[in-house]
Amino acid sequence: MIILGFESSCDETGVAAVCTERGLLAHALHTQIAMHQEYGGVVPELASRDHIRRVVPLTRQVLEDAGLQMSDIGAVAYTAGPGLAGALLVGASVAQSFAWSRHLPAIGIHHLEGHLLSPMLADPRPDFPFVALLVSGGHTQLMRVDGVGRYELLGETLDDAAGEAFDKSAKLMGLGYPGGPALSRLAGSGDPTRFELPRPMLHSGDLDFSFSGLKTAVLTRVKAAEAAGGLDEQARADLAAATQAAIVDVLAAKAIKALKQTGLKRLVVAGGVGANQLLRAKLDAALKPLKARAYFPPLELCTDNGAMIAFAAAERVKAGLATLDPDAHGFTVKP
Ligand code: KG4
Ligand code: ZN
Repeated sequence: MIILGFESSCDETGVAAVCTERGLLAHALHTQIAMHQEYGGVVPELASRDHIRRVVPLTRQVLEDAGLQMSDIGAVAYTAGPGLAGALLVGASVAQSFAWSRHLPAIGIHHLEGHLLSPMLADPRPDFPFVALLVSGGHTQLMRVDGVGRYELLGETLDDAAGEAFDKSAKLMGLGYPGGPALSRLAGSGDPTRFELPRPMLHSGDLDFSFSGLKTAVLTRVKAAEAAGGLDEQARADLAAATQAAIVDVLAAKAIKALKQTGLKRLVVAGGVGANQLLRAKLDAALKPLKARAYFPPLELCTDNGAMIAFAAAERVKAGLATLDPDAHGFTVKP
């Protein structure tokens, strides 16, 4: 069965075609980053309007790239939540309309399940069971994954998400939006030891996280630098490197703790922060002596995309966990 998937939960419009037997056939993505940049963050109203503009051309492109006709599609999938309500409604409405017009099932997918299973689009594909470190702009969670739909929450952030910590710290340093990629680029030319920053909850004994204190610590350093004449280029790079090191240290330490606690040897890293090269390098190095292995989604599929939504739906169909009744419409996941 070929599934056409739509993602529109935030500032990326993603469309993809995934075959339950052959995997990803084609995907197309439009990111609104440039549009939101001048506001320093996502403007929900603008996001919704842009999804409307992009979704049909992207769908055409996917069908063309995959050599598909509309009649080849067997089911439609869409991000049902969580996300910006108006933005979600664009993808949900287009998907449900497409499904209704062709009498196909419409499968609502939880955005985080999309991220969670996205490393399975990479080669090699991790087998179940695995520990998943889900690190996006809105979530930071450690989960035990025993199969499709079999997820156990092991720990999560008590306040800010890891991506939020990157974004907010970057903003304090006067870097652009989104802050994560900008901060990590600048960190490349910085000395992570010049500024000492806290590693919140590193020794808390559980698998939870907290990042709001880190943001406050960054603010204190920025204010001190401003009082002393301003944050020069090198100091900004050093502070970026220190911030990145602090976030990555905590994420890596807790992920390793989760592997030890569960006795599992596979760690899957998903979500936008999974694109961070220091996190990837640190985990790769730390897992080797434990005879464990980290799996990451292809870089282009770390941030939001339609491929992960179509793929999660395909996995649900294969596991018998999707409702395939074309008349059973519903906005199944609360946004
Ligand atoms: O998964 P995602 O695209 O959207 C959500 O569902 O939230 O994640 C976006 C987050 C943003 O906070 C962004 O700054 C962060 O991922 N991010 C990064 C990197 N690339 C994206 N953070 C650190 N290093 C990166 N290279
Ligand atoms: Zn996401």
